[in-house]
Amino acid sequence: MSTELTKSTSWKALEKHYEEIKNVHLRTMFEKDEKRGLRLKIDEIGIYFDYSKHRITDETLDLLFGLAKNRDIEKRRAAMFSGEKINTTENRAVLHTALRAPKGSTILLDGHNVVPDVHAVLDKMTDFSNKIRSGEWKGFTGNPIKNIVNIGIGGSDLGPVMAYEALKHFSAKELLFRFVSNVDGSDFAEAVIDLDAEETLFIISSKTFITIETMTNAQTARSWALAKLGDASAVARHFVAVSTNEKEVTKFGIDPQNMFGFWDWVGGRYSMSAAIGLSTMIAIGSENYHRMLNGLNEMDEHFRTAPMENNIPVIIGLLGLWYTSFFDAQTQAVFPYDRYLHRFPAYLQQLTMESNGKHITLDGQTVNYQTGAIYWGEPGTNGQHSFYQLIHQGTKLIPCDFIGFKKSLNNLPPHQDYLIANMIAQGEALAFGKTVDEVKAEGVAESIVPHKVFEGNRPSSTFFLDKVSPENLGKLVAMYEHAVFVQGAIWDINPYDQMGVELGKVLAQNIIPELQDTTKAIHHDSSTNALIELYRK
Ligand code: F6P
Repeated sequence: MSTELTKSTSWKALEKHYEEIKNVHLRTMFEKDEKRGLRLKIDEIGIYFDYSKHRITDETLDLLFGLAKNRDIEKRRAAMFSGEKINTTENRAVLHTALRAPKGSTILLDGHNVVPDVHAVLDKMTDFSNKIRSGEWKGFTGNPIKNIVNIGIGGSDLGPVMAYEALKHFSAKELLFRFVSNVDGSDFAEAVIDLDAEETLFIISSKTFITIETMTNAQTARSWALAKLGDASAVARHFVAVSTNEKEVTKFGIDPQNMFGFWDWVGGRYSMSAAIGLSTMIAIGSENYHRMLNGLNEMDEHFRTAPMENNIPVIIGLLGLWYTSFFDAQTQAVFPYDRYLHRFPAYLQQLTMESNGKHITLDGQTVNYQTGAIYWGEPGTNGQHSFYQLIHQGTKLIPCDFIGFKKSLNNLPPHQDYLIANMIAQGEALAFGKTVDEVKAEGVAESIVPHKVFEGNRPSSTFFLDKVSPENLGKLVAMYEHAVFVQGAIWDINPYDQMGVELGKVLAQNIIPELQDTTKAIHHDSSTNALIELYRK
């Protein structure tokens, strides 16, 4: 059991402080400090981050910053940016920040500058996406490509889907994009149901190129395309790969010329700014794609250089830790008040939960504190008419992130006013609630009064940006990436491996032949055996 963190002076001070302020209401905090809402905010690099509606005081912040300093956040951050192998369980560097480093900069990994490699791939992506977008790239029968199907799962799917949806406004309307991830054959079948193979390009996106879901879908896509195109040499015109594994790509039959590479120092869930973004670049064009990279880089630089007290990802990370490890909050909700970001919560689920869903410290001990929260969310205002009831009046403490934009990309008055009024109102209602006296003053029947009371004191952050744009999407993605880093560093866990997904994969491999060969003896537990028997019948 690792007790180092919880025995530290800064942790103990936070525990003591938690006891002192756990019942202090946000109403009191705002009453005591008229300027709280103006003070507890950061307005940097185009993001207005209001964190005044959190159950914190200046002392809480000081103690949290103290904890971060004692856990060597600054040193660990420098280690990540400089290519040290901070993914210790896999002996790898964690350099997704190099993927958006400007041309001409230097980031050394084992003495080798990786930035020129990154830009060589970006240039190859640019060339290819220009050819697809202009119609210069022809399919096997001489037709231009009209449909792009990305086949990938996890980080090789969620980033591309989320970014495509988020930046749809900037997308080439004459191209159709589909995303296939699930090994469920219906996913593939529905994605290609109305597509013409002669005009379809498959991007097989897989860091390892051995993921069973992706390889099964890729083989099915190959058969589907060849059934229509009739000749194996058609693969070269209709299949490209994004991977780190050239050997497997070649084995599949894709010409390495049509492969866009990346490196083992990019984790799957950190790869949307690597070549995994190829579908995004084809959709929005290389200029817009570079705008997204600039946004990511701007947030990287903010995180790397801003003092802790003015550092957006540091504060997000610390607030999340405050609720998870001290208030015992189990979940963190994320509500984008913009339809274009409707897949952002799903993207964040992998980013945060595959990263910090760990209970073993870097030196192999079991933690004695809570780590990574369950992330979830839906776009506003939809959620308001569904699960917000529980957030307002349920028994659980659910910190919320509201993400809103001042301008809509579709100017249809009064929609944006209504949308943003709702977002602002939710934060207000959660924080301040409605007292018994206020309810009574409305003349509500005595027996109904308790039902209409909102206790409030429910925390939220509000992020306000100008509008959905490639830069702003980049900033938001990097913002959460670095908040994950901050928490992982303090909890002393490794956010960059994902060993917890392995066991299920291995067991599925054992079960596949048992489903296919009904004479095979099965030796699982009684429940597993019964389920296999049922399927066999
Ligand atoms: O199973 C989890 C995982 O390894 C993720 O971390 C990763 O993003 C996903 O599978 C897909 O992996 P790959 O890109 O290698 O196919």
